[in-house]
Amino acid sequence: MQVLGIKTNLVKVGDDLVQALEKGMAEAGLTLQDGDILVVSESTVATAEGRVILLDDVLPGELARTLAAKYCKDPHEMELILRESDEILGGIPGVVLTLNKGFLYPNAGIDHSNAPPGYVVLFPADAQKAAKEIRNRMAQGKKIGVIIGDSRTHPLRLGCVGVALACEGLEPVEDARGQKDLFGRELKITRKAVADNLVSAAQIVMGEGDEGIPAVIIRDAPVLIQEVCGEIPTIPPQECMYIGALRSGPRPYTGGYDSLIDQAAEALQNAYAPYSGFRVGAALLGKSGKTYSASNIENASSGADICAERVALAKAVASGERDFEAIAVVGDTLEPIAPCGICRQSLMEFGKDILIIMANLKGDALTASVEDLLPKAFTGRSLGKRDGGGN
Ligand code: THU
Repeated sequence: MQVLGIKTNLVKVGDDLVQALEKGMAEAGLTLQDGDILVVSESTVATAEGRVILLDDVLPGELARTLAAKYCKDPHEMELILRESDEILGGIPGVVLTLNKGFLYPNAGIDHSNAPPGYVVLFPADAQKAAKEIRNRMAQGKKIGVIIGDSRTHPLRLGCVGVALACEGLEPVEDARGQKDLFGRELKITRKAVADNLVSAAQIVMGEGDEGIPAVIIRDAPVLIQEVCGEIPTIPPQECMYIGALRSGPRPYTGGYDSLIDQAAEALQNAYAPYSGFRVGAALLGKSGKTYSASNIENASSGADICAERVALAKAVASGERDFEAIAVVGDTLEPIAPCGICRQSLMEFGKDILIIMANLKGDALTASVEDLLPKAFTGRSLGKRDGGGN
């Protein structure tokens, strides 16, 4: 297998990437052959697409400012991260781990390197489309594959490895299940990340800095070039060894349930809390789309107090609703308010995945699933009956 670098001039916003690659190939005396796989760096694709942003042009919102302070990041960049990701899973000073369409990225893939000072490069708008277009334009009757590549670190390992964002013309993941190991035992879970491994090989030649090699041709790889939809498969976070094992506890709220929070805040005004003076509002969103809002109800005999969450749950269940998507809980508190243990148990009865949005009247919010807040719960399953959720 050979890895042949394609040196180009600096690719700039609006440049025709295919033309730049073809020029680089011509200068190096390279032509594409049947079976070749072209690996192109994602930042070059994104730059040509114009996905380059001047950070000062981005106006940070309230949430971006809060998260920027929490994770020691520039508020402008944090605003972009929020716009570019579905969820922020957490972070350390300087880096947040984000999820977008099932892909995990540091800082939503926003990159300062290979961008002019003050600018950042976002991910390609649609890497799969870009791979398809490059393949269509460059193949010229040859059977070739195209991969858009990026780099990532593995947990607890120093240094980057290759990762494919998009792949056309080859199977990105080879299923080796059913094959035999050296001792004749059947392989049970082995799948080979062919596209990622090819990107790693490409990166040995490409580098990440000023090498001026944004793409390589991989020749004679033992990989079948075929007409397949090479979309990169992902697995749900809860089935991922790393995320599933680590993901617990509250995460920053990244939007989407603003009106549910508003309804909970409104319900708080009706709290009957003459003893504690502690007012709580909750709004529970059923899978039917209906919401059930409620407040806490206290009693002279404090054991008879009912929390807002359980009042909302009682309203909903008594109305025939059994499946729930999310519940917002709002307190007139300094920090977002978390449901008490009994409420966690009550919610667990109707589903471990219900999203809990914990908020206060100031607009601070955190999210967690019921299971995050009540791990290893006692449920109907423990009794050998039903699991939480639905009927
Ligand atoms: N309370 C709630 O309504 N929800 C919670 O998540 C925590 C506590 C209420 C119960 C009681 O009326 C008051 O807050 C003080 O405990």
